Amino acid sequence: MTYQIKDLEDYKRVYKESIDNPDEFWADQASTFKWIKKWEKVKECDFQGPEIKWFIGGKLNITENCLDRHLDESGDKIALLWEPNNPDQEHQSYTYRELFTEVCQCANALKANGIVKGDRVILYMPMVPELAIAVLACARIGAVHSVVFAGFSAQALADRINDAKAKMVICSDINNRGNKTIPVKKVVDDAMELSCPTIETVIVYRNSPEEINWDYRINKWWHHELDGQSPTCDPEPMDSEDMLFILYTSGSTGKPKGVVHTCGGYMVYTSFSFKNVFQYKPGDIYWCTADIGWITGHSYIVYGPLLSGATTMMFEGVPTYPDAGRFWEICEKHKVNQFYTAPTAIRALMAKGNDWPAKYDLSSIKVLGTVGEPINEEAWNWYNEKIGKGKAPIVDTWWQTETGGIMLTPLPGITDTKPCYASYPLPGIVPVLVDSDGNLVEGNDVEGLLCIDQPWPSMIRTTYGDHDRCKQVYFSMFEGKYFTGDGARRDKDGRIRVIGRVDDVINVSGHRMGTAEVENAINEHPNVIESAVVGFPHDIKGQGIFAYIITDQKQKDHSEFYDEIKAVVSKEIGPIAKPDEIMVVSGLPKTRSGKIMRRILRKIAANDASNLGDISTLLNPEIVEEIKTSKGIIN
Ligand code: PRX
Repeated sequence: MTYQIKDLEDYKRVYKESIDNPDEFWADQASTFKWIKKWEKVKECDFQGPEIKWFIGGKLNITENCLDRHLDESGDKIALLWEPNNPDQEHQSYTYRELFTEVCQCANALKANGIVKGDRVILYMPMVPELAIAVLACARIGAVHSVVFAGFSAQALADRINDAKAKMVICSDINNRGNKTIPVKKVVDDAMELSCPTIETVIVYRNSPEEINWDYRINKWWHHELDGQSPTCDPEPMDSEDMLFILYTSGSTGKPKGVVHTCGGYMVYTSFSFKNVFQYKPGDIYWCTADIGWITGHSYIVYGPLLSGATTMMFEGVPTYPDAGRFWEICEKHKVNQFYTAPTAIRALMAKGNDWPAKYDLSSIKVLGTVGEPINEEAWNWYNEKIGKGKAPIVDTWWQTETGGIMLTPLPGITDTKPCYASYPLPGIVPVLVDSDGNLVEGNDVEGLLCIDQPWPSMIRTTYGDHDRCKQVYFSMFEGKYFTGDGARRDKDGRIRVIGRVDDVINVSGHRMGTAEVENAINEHPNVIESAVVGFPHDIKGQGIFAYIITDQKQKDHSEFYDEIKAVVSKEIGPIAKPDEIMVVSGLPKTRSGKIMRRILRKIAANDASNLGDISTLLNPEIVEEIKTSKGIIN
């Protein structure tokens, strides 16, 4: 098992060791896993290429380390707990042995359907255990999984399928979310209609007795395909640098990019970070409320916990169904020890009042985690007082799809915590602040752009099918450094607070959204001439989406048009990208070279028209006044 830091002195010692002798440090961590063939060299990392390689020459299968490795000693221990959407339905559990069997059967079913090492398989599934099983089954046979969050639209799904040139989709018939039933398979059918020529098979997990549309040429039932499959499946030997998965995420330009993670480094880092950040102890029940459609679910529902032999819980539903006490009821029921969620959920539940958490016994909780967006002080305090009763340290974990694992965080019971601060780097991580010219911003009580100075095992390797994009976005801004896209401040004691994105990415309820992506969707409406999308502060979501639109529609009442805009965004991307506010404008503030001045639009969207800067150099300064007036901002 990877090393678990014990106390502050130990953290300081381990951190120093990891920076002074990274190869030795990571080799020590890696050697605690089962390797089919040991690596020859710990790393070769060139940020110029970029060419990032860890545990070079090593062969392994991550599922052998998630499953087989635990069978002798902990085969009967619960690996996966599943809590259904409907509280009246029984929860389910899988021991390590049971999970192993399910994964092997699913892996054999994939093979029987022609999936071989290197093939891409799209998983478009609700939060049912079969999603975790399918993820691991892909990894078992060396297929590359790409989980697409089941809230994305048919168009977004088709884009991802086609970018990945996937051979198979695994989905469910429906998805139960709160009191809604979402027709998942119908979205897959629609994606197929949009043309996904590489897809040969769609495997459908049955989640409801209702009849669904069926295409006998490519549709197959999950239970038919798994029935009768052998309960064992040899793990495919994977090179450390073979692809493990692709996960699509939004950037500031163009379409979402497929972030590629590989087997060896990802395995070592997710396990190491899981054990340390959550201070997981044998017997603990760990619950992360994320969806496996995002990186948090990959690293800290599936891989990190299972690699560490933990009991990990999955929840099918939403925090407010059947009522705002659901999370806390589940914590009481399963005696959850580590609870990991997003600030947006905390804010939404805080708004429902203190009576909900007060109804439940939350004394089992030892560690509280937050991830995905900056947490505001009020939410942090509420989480600390009402959920943790001041006794469960909060780990405000900062990281990204691209980093694969947690990078900055307090360590519970080991380092201190401070509201809104992700605080300290994990071993092996060297965060630095730079100014816009790339000069290091040194000292304390300063702000800058957050970069990472040294390679770490689970870092992004490439963006699928477009290596140059990876280079441009992350490695070209500041030579020799990985650029995160975030701005941060270092306080007087050296703790880091991540403030938010400095690029054209907005973070809505912890979901990353590219403004260009939303604009492209809006521009699909035939009456849109031009649009500009910015984020604005939102009480629950953290950031909301504000769309300024120029239209050729002449009528005064735009309410129907607004509905159409929301519909077109839902169709192109998914309901999560729908603008919260839309304003029809006659022009957009532009520089003389034609660039939209988003800074001004952001300020107006936030109802803050102070310090707009010198607008006289704009191509059309008069438009600023017009937009301010429409927004009801008076000087
Ligand atoms: O802006 C940062 C914000 O979320 C971005 C990464 O989003 P994504 O790749 O979807 O991964 C989210 C889950 C790991 C970051 O660039 N972010 C994430 N965690 C925090 C955060 N901002 C502030 N504090 C955090 N703890």
